Amino acid sequence: MIKNYLKRTTEEKWALGHFNFSEDDALRAIAQAAFNLKAPILVGTSEGERKHIGLKQAVNLVKAFREEFGIPIFLNADHHKSFDAVKEAVDAGYDAILADFSALPFEENVKMTKQSVEYAKSKNPDIIIEGELGYMRGESKLQKEIIEIKSEDLTKPEEAGRFVRETGVDMLAPAVGNIHGIAANAPNIDFQRIGDIKKAVGSEVYLVLHGGSGMSESDFKNAIEAGISMIHINTEIRVAFTEALRKTLEEMPEETTPYKILTPSIEAMKKVIEEKLRIFGSVSKL
Ligand code: G3H
Ligand code: ZN
Repeated sequence: MIKNYLKRTTEEKWALGHFNFSEDDALRAIAQAAFNLKAPILVGTSEGERKHIGLKQAVNLVKAFREEFGIPIFLNADHHKSFDAVKEAVDAGYDAILADFSALPFEENVKMTKQSVEYAKSKNPDIIIEGELGYMRGESKLQKEIIEIKSEDLTKPEEAGRFVRETGVDMLAPAVGNIHGIAANAPNIDFQRIGDIKKAVGSEVYLVLHGGSGMSESDFKNAIEAGISMIHINTEIRVAFTEALRKTLEEMPEETTPYKILTPSIEAMKKVIEEKLRIFGSVSKL
């Protein structure tokens, strides 16, 4: 169960890795990396990613990899922004959901997140629900511009405490200086704020750090030390896939066999994922 691993992350000071995928080769790379390093892992599909691979396909492919490798691979519905989308993922058998109503005013966010928690738990008492509070800028891609974070974007610890009590979420994604994607500027993480939010939400609610691409090894280690239990990586996997694919197409212009063209991309993604799992300290944690 995810809950048991989450409990261990805070007791033993490491983090679970969460990696996004939208097609089966990225999922294969993630599963193989987790298997090689004996790491429990989450894989996630945003609404767009899930649309590409298919809802049933995502659930059943993850099940197949879980069976093949015999390791815990949990499927998360990442940044689901409507109740209908949340409901579809719950009904399809996802293990975890990020009910992301962070774009709404506080009270509305509470209302929609609570509704998601109640529905999801009534269908599957073991499901893990994450809420999001604060404003996270950026998108999971390479961004040429500087992304400036304003102090009003950041999650306030006292609001975080109220949010988790009123919604009943298991996990919270705060805005603590993190950015989705890779921007021209490095993220400037407020570790003190992570610690204050962790205190405010209590030991039974776990914190998730989004926007892991472009962060340094020391950022990750300090974030885990401050109270982060899970870290999301997407852009760096997308970049590894695309860069390797471009290189392969250039080097083998005559090649037409898809699995031959895609193999270097799988290897490149696997390398990124293994690197992150080592930094997160999730190696040999099965
Ligand atoms: O939910 C997805 C993540 O927060 C990914 O962020 O693209 O910056 O790695 P990233
Ligand atoms: Zn995210």
